[in-house]
Amino acid sequence: MEDLVNQHLFGGIYNNKKVLVTGHTGFKGSWLCYWLDKMGAEVLGYSLPAPTNPSHFELLNSSYESVIADIRETNLLNDTFKRFQPDIVFHMAAQPLVRLAYELIDETYETNVMGSLRVYEACRQTKSVKSIVSITTDKVYENLEEDRGFVESDPLGGKDPYSASKAAMEVMTNSYRHSYFHHDKLSEHNKVLTTVRAGNVIGGGDWSKDRLIPDLIRAYREKETVLIRSPQAVRPWQHVLECLAGYLVVGQKSLNDERIADAYNFGPDLNEKITVEEVIKIFNQFIAVDYKIEAADLFESTMLRLNCEKAQQDLKWKPIWSAEEALKRSARWYRDFYEQRELTTENDLMDYINQAKESGLEWCK
Ligand SMILES: NC(=O)c1ccc[n+]([C@@H]2O[C@H](COP(=O)([O-])OP(=O)(O)OC[C@H]3O[C@@H](n4cnc5c(N)ncnc54)[C@H](O)[C@@H]3O)[C@@H](O)[C@H]2O)c1
Repeated sequence: MEDLVNQHLFGGIYNNKKVLVTGHTGFKGSWLCYWLDKMGAEVLGYSLPAPTNPSHFELLNSSYESVIADIRETNLLNDTFKRFQPDIVFHMAAQPLVRLAYELIDETYETNVMGSLRVYEACRQTKSVKSIVSITTDKVYENLEEDRGFVESDPLGGKDPYSASKAAMEVMTNSYRHSYFHHDKLSEHNKVLTTVRAGNVIGGGDWSKDRLIPDLIRAYREKETVLIRSPQAVRPWQHVLECLAGYLVVGQKSLNDERIADAYNFGPDLNEKITVEEVIKIFNQFIAVDYKIEAADLFESTMLRLNCEKAQQDLKWKPIWSAEEALKRSARWYRDFYEQRELTTENDLMDYINQAKESGLEWCK
């Protein structure tokens, strides 16, 4: 792979930095750690085992340190922080599935709220930690089904257990920041805690249950018909590399700017209004899947879009790939994986960085 260390991405700050990532065995975590590793970061992943089989984390077979454990195992978590002495923490570990949360309600709240609290407590006890980027979701907003994008100051809510658990995590995070990591006392604690909200992240290497793209892939593999519950639902589809670039900018900037301690949305352009049914049609250009529309059984909002002006202004971040491009990339990733036994993660990453450079984005200058 082309050497990313010499490319000076994100001001070159990740080279030789100690970065601890919770949830590294999952979809987003596996891509993030891959990118960090290539930029010369010393990565430690802390997470339960890979939640799916196949698993992108296992396929990548990376050599950074991987601790397989629960974030609610306080002693081990604290010991790991103490031993590793991270500079930057990306907290992604969660029970992230909307439908599963209805069944695993206790575990969803315990992991997403109390687990996050354990991670913040470990950060508080570890002097080396300067930047904490905590990953939540676009579903934290109280959804009034309005045709406008949510802004970060909109009221939080969540009718289903997953959304509510993440909104509760946001409230807890805000209180935690105010109580322990207040900017007035920066010289004492030296930490900046942010939350980052993205949603409907797509890309190769996701085999989770009850997510549209993995469901399509399962139907294609098993030659089955996929049942679609909300064909007209609009989601902020974005490639995983888009939100990860945003998280990496937050990690970079919060090392020396305490004003970053806040919440940020990361999503596609507001004009992108692609419905679930249109997603399937684009996907079908690469991977043929039969689908059937079925009445929704559990509550799901139909309209969900994010206004990302704050990230564009404060962080100089913006999306690079259209939702259609992100969908095509994802479909190609799975097609190459199943038909050629080829892992195209590296190609996607390099193409993304090259296109970001062409767009003149600050993080890749
Ligand atoms: N993928 C999306 O579309 C999306 C959208 C919005 C928000 N998110 C958020 O992004 C983060 C990552 O999501 P993902 O899509 O990679 O999910 P994923 O299911 O692929 O990964 C979740 C990770 O968390 C780990 N984990 C779960 N419970 C744990 C626990 N108790 N202790 C330690 N590790 C635990 C899993 O082992 C896995 O590594 C989550 O916080 C999720 O809520 C994802």
